[in-house]
Amino acid sequence: MRKFLLACTLGLICLSIGFAAFQKPNWTIPEEEKQRKNPIAPSEAALKAAKVIYADQCANCHGDTGKGDGSDAMMYDPGPADLTDASQMKKLTDGEIYYQITEGRKPMPSFKKRLTEEQRWQLVLLVRSFASAPTKH
Ligand code: HEC
Repeated sequence: MRKFLLACTLGLICLSIGFAAFQKPNWTIPEEEKQRKNPIAPSEAALKAAKVIYADQCANCHGDTGKGDGSDAMMYDPGPADLTDASQMKKLTDGEIYYQITEGRKPMPSFKKRLTEEQRWQLVLLVRSFASAPTKH
């Protein structure tokens, strides 16, 4: 009986390690952060500003069009998210995207100190535009 229990326990441990390795855990984002609204109204100027920052800070991982196929993407595990994936992106609130850019999650760096709040909210507008634009195949 003891041996059986031990085998069961070991089995469970292996299973949970397996799950942890294969499942991408969700980001834990505080509720009040999720609810935050973008203080910046969408405009050509805001998108243009965001594109410059994106090309400089994000495109090496997420790719020029947000597909997650940047030049450095191969080096990372998990790989950079596909920001054009509308079914995934529509699950996120603006506040969540802002939080993800602000805090980062390995291997994605935190942009809290690298970018101003305004720049990060501008990026939220740009990230939104990636998923709503018709994807070319
Ligand atoms: C070093 C490579 C790297 C850089 C630079 C980087 N990211 Fe990421 N990003 C990632 C990775 C890897 C993930 C997935 C992390 C995870 O799910 O654990 C990610 C996830 C995200 C997500 C979450 C998407 C989702 O489906 O939940 C957003 C939004 C995002 N990045 C936006 C940006 C923006 C905007 C910039 C530039 C300011 C940027 N990233 C710069 C690697 C990077």
